[in-house]
Amino acid sequence: MTTTSSAPGKVYLFGEHAVVYGEPAVPCAIERRARVTVSERDDDRLRVSADALSIDGFTVEYGNASDDGPDVDVPTPLVEAATGYVDEAVAQARDAAGRPDAGFDVEIESEIPLGAGLGSSAAVAVAGIDAATRELGVKLDTREVADRAYRVEHEVQDGQASRADTFCSAMGGAVRVEGDDCTTLEAPDLPFVVGYDGTSHDTGELVSGVRALRDEFEFAADTVETVGDLVREGERALADGDVETLGRLMNFNHGLLSALGVSARTLDNMVWAARDGGAVGAKLTGAGGGGSIVALDDDGGSVTALSLTPDCEEAFRAELATEGVRVE
Ligand code: MEV
Repeated sequence: MTTTSSAPGKVYLFGEHAVVYGEPAVPCAIERRARVTVSERDDDRLRVSADALSIDGFTVEYGNASDDGPDVDVPTPLVEAATGYVDEAVAQARDAAGRPDAGFDVEIESEIPLGAGLGSSAAVAVAGIDAATRELGVKLDTREVADRAYRVEHEVQDGQASRADTFCSAMGGAVRVEGDDCTTLEAPDLPFVVGYDGTSHDTGELVSGVRALRDEFEFAADTVETVGDLVREGERALADGDVETLGRLMNFNHGLLSALGVSARTLDNMVWAARDGGAVGAKLTGAGGGGSIVALDDDGGSVTALSLTPDCEEAFRAELATEGVRVE
């Protein structure tokens, strides 16, 4: 048998990084999906291939279920990261189905660039767990898929992950995450524009950088708390459908993330290009260090402005994905 599941990527309206320390965050799923196709093997080995990613394709053959990792060299650190998420997702599926020795062929396709701040790893973990458990005849509740995908991120990112990315990818739509408290939100279809600089970054390292700053300086810890205040204000604007205020708060959030050291010249340039192009607000999205920005712009002038910005590799309108993980 073969089973394919897909899950959406996401942008953060507000609250990345601060969410790791118990502040609230509001990520929104976008209509760019990762698809994971799983076939059960008749041995206990794991073979992972990914030919349709925004990086060079790869195939990695793993050892037996009891082995620690791939038994061949993985081509790049990024591929290593991707296979790490798949490896842990398969471990979760084996556990959920009570089949510790199940072997799989896994194929990943993603419309979301890896490590770009658009939630590719969460989407791969969510879709991977859903597909692998279904392949073993087990249908998990969506919240359990989200919970198990969180454990995957937690493991791969050395204990430094919030539930935000994985809950958002599993449920779809706009969500609110504060610690272990995860809820879905009513949200208008916001006019998201995304700019991507073509680079990839390690979330774990960026989270560690913020943690170090927060441990060193009280005002950095205060900055993290201020992000939480901003998110609470933003939730009111979201409930009122007040796009103008959402935009102003996004601009403020970008400034705070910049103070926490996770912006980059490319991100700042794209943020300013989007604002100059008519966006009501723009900020980096995800872990930062490079990667992507999100803007709110009804008439699309920011897509043109971003396309003309040398630091921007790709600019696109992104629709809210109302559907989370689904079998294809
Ligand atoms: C990464 O997409 C979002 C961070 O807040 C990390 C996390 O929440 O796990 C930086």
